[in-house]
Amino acid sequence: MRLDGFLSKSALMTRREAARAIAAGRVTVDGDTARDGSVRIADGMKIALDGRILPPASKIYLMMNKPEGFITATEDRRRGERVVSELLPDELARRVFPVGRLDRDTTGLLIFTDDGEAAHRALSPRHHVEKSYMFTCSPPLTPEASDAIEKGVDIGERDGKGEVILSKPARVDGDVITITEGKFHQIKRMFHAVGFEIETLRRVAFSGIALDESLMPGEWRYLDGEEIAKFTSGGKNGGD
Ligand code: URA
Repeated sequence: MRLDGFLSKSALMTRREAARAIAAGRVTVDGDTARDGSVRIADGMKIALDGRILPPASKIYLMMNKPEGFITATEDRRRGERVVSELLPDELARRVFPVGRLDRDTTGLLIFTDDGEAAHRALSPRHHVEKSYMFTCSPPLTPEASDAIEKGVDIGERDGKGEVILSKPARVDGDVITITEGKFHQIKRMFHAVGFEIETLRRVAFSGIALDESLMPGEWRYLDGEEIAKFTSGGKNGGD
C-alpha cells in the first residue's frame, strides 16, 4: 500500500489532505519525515502523524483524558456547551464517536471509535465490562457504606412490577470503585443511596485499558494493539 493510501485509510484523510500533511512534514515513517506519498508501506512499519503512531487497521480507536466541563457528545446541541469531540482534529471528529458517556464534571478515560460493534459490546450490560473510577465523596466513605455499595443498593430502579432492582455488585478498593453497569449518574446514585455525595469522579480504566497518565486533560492518543484487543474483546484479552 502507498503512504497516501495508508493515511487516507488509517487517519481518515482525503488524498489531498494526506499530500498536504506529507508536504508539511507532519508524517513520519519509522521515525523519518516522509516526503513522498507514493512510497510503499510494508507491514510493521510505524507511521506517525503529528508524532502519534497511527493504527494499522482501518478502524480507529483512541483514548482521551476528558477534561472537566465538557459534555460527552459529538456536536454542540446546546448553545455555549463545550463538547468532547471539539478536542479532536476535524477529520477524526467527523468519523469517531465516544463510547458511553461521562458526566460534564467527570474526568478521565473516554474511548472514541468508529467500530460500532465493539462499542456496542463494551456498553452492553450483558457483557459486564468493567469500568473503574477514582472518587472523592462527602463525608469520607465508611466501611459499612462501602460494603453496602459492593453488594448492591437501591438507586431508584424498578422492574415492571414495581420491585426494586438493586445496583449490580461492585468492588470498592480504597478510593477506586469498579462497576459493570453504566446507567445515568450510576456512581453518584449508588453513593447517594447510602448517604454519601460524590465530589469528584475520574475514570481510570475501561475494559481492561488504563488511562494513560501522561495525557493531560483534553489530550488524546490512539490505542495500541494490546489495548485494541482488550477493547474489542470486552476486556477479556491482551494479558488480563
Ligand atoms: N457514574 C456517574 O455518576 N457519573 C459518571 O460520569 C460516570 C459514572
